[in-house]
Amino acid sequence: MAATAVIGLQWGDEAKGKIVDLLTEDHDVVVRYLGGNNAGHTVVFNGKTYKLSLLPAGVLHPEKTSVIAGGVVINPKAFLEELDSIEKQNGATVDNLVVSDRAHVIFPWHQLEEAALEKARKDEAIGTTMRGIGPCYRDKAGRTHAIRMGDFIRPDVFRRRLEEIVPQKNTIIKALDPDATPLSADAIYEEFQAYADRLRPRITDTTALLHRELKADKKLLFEGAQGSLLDIDHGTFPFVTSSNSSGCGIHGGSGVPERVIDRMIGVVKAYTTRVGGGPFPTELHDETGQRIRDVGREYGTVTGRPRRCGWLDAVATRYGAMISGVDCIAVALLDVLTGLPELSICEAYEIDGERTTDFPSHIDDLAKAKPVYRTLPGWTEDICGVKKLADFPKAAREYLDALAELVERPVEIISVGPDREQTVIV
Ligand code: GDP
Ligand code: IMO
Ligand code: MG
Repeated sequence: MAATAVIGLQWGDEAKGKIVDLLTEDHDVVVRYLGGNNAGHTVVFNGKTYKLSLLPAGVLHPEKTSVIAGGVVINPKAFLEELDSIEKQNGATVDNLVVSDRAHVIFPWHQLEEAALEKARKDEAIGTTMRGIGPCYRDKAGRTHAIRMGDFIRPDVFRRRLEEIVPQKNTIIKALDPDATPLSADAIYEEFQAYADRLRPRITDTTALLHRELKADKKLLFEGAQGSLLDIDHGTFPFVTSSNSSGCGIHGGSGVPERVIDRMIGVVKAYTTRVGGGPFPTELHDETGQRIRDVGREYGTVTGRPRRCGWLDAVATRYGAMISGVDCIAVALLDVLTGLPELSICEAYEIDGERTTDFPSHIDDLAKAKPVYRTLPGWTEDICGVKKLADFPKAAREYLDALAELVERPVEIISVGPDREQTVIV
């Protein structure tokens, strides 16, 4: 086995952090390759809860190498704050963490642009995390306003780039928001120079490093962020994030071809959640939805926003599994469904009177989709301590069987609580 990938198959927050942490002991290198501090990955063990946003879950295992690859967008201040907080929590320094010189840097103008653009969309706001992720990726694609880590750590290049970019950004920001205070290249240089000094020793060509590790028979673990349905190309555009957050992003984001990955694990929450705007056919606006939110503690790790909750959407999840190319599924938060008298899984949509199991490519069609449900019995037994498949109540096993059948992938891992120990390997 050379590499494993853990990919969310829904709209994020599927418990990727927990699954990555669980698998870390069998790997040598943990790689984050997309997104930025819009992600919020929770890891729980030994009675401690860790909230990771930019750092790969591998940083909790000091003996492993952690890599932030070129596809990630990095807010240097947020990076350093998170690093400090993890080091404080653990009482030990994080020594084996490197950052790609190809990664793009998020600057204050990215957040200002995003705030103005989201405000202008009013009711149709994307509902982003406001971390400047989208504008930073836009500048990466546009090239002229982009600053990569490799530029950022070279003081003369950084200074020159700021002097070119900041006046242009001030014009753009002024046009978007006449009340905005202009940015100062000098002030940004002063502040960010200090961040660059701290980051410099960690910056390297991570693509070369990952290929060296592969050659040395080391095992890589790719930690996906966001989810397949938030993918910029294959998700519910424009209510998506600005990178390839399905399995499609691994190669581009890390420089490691997907063909070296022999195990692609899709993480599926036992129901569905979504943060931000966009259609969500199985959303529940009733007591059941509220109950799932309360029991599952469905409030955003990053923004604290209540997550929208609903039944498992097997049409959307199967589509996520298909585009991400996953071999098997890790089902998480199954325990949250305990006590519900009856459970529903969406097995098809009805769109304009036609039944389909295809996931629509346009959000207007998805917004019209009426879920066709398969109803299953619930269970009341506490499953938080279950250790093997045979010990689940019959109804829970039937639910897992239906999930595997409808998503067309075998279930190999079942998570029944936030702790590392609360996991069943099938
Ligand atoms: P990620 O972004 O995919 O890593 O997921 P998040 O960390 O944002 O959200 C998952 C939440 O569910 C976190 O609070 C986890 O601690 C918690 N969690 C993970 N697995 C389970 C589980 O099996 N049961 C319960 N009840 N909570 C879980
Ligand atoms: P993890 O890795 C859930 C959502 C935002 C918004 C949309 C665009 O914890 O699963 P962005 O700031 O990326 O431009 O926001 O994407 N979003 C997430 N939702 N989990 C995440 O990450 C998310 N990262 C972004 O809520 O709807
Ligand atoms: Mg999350």
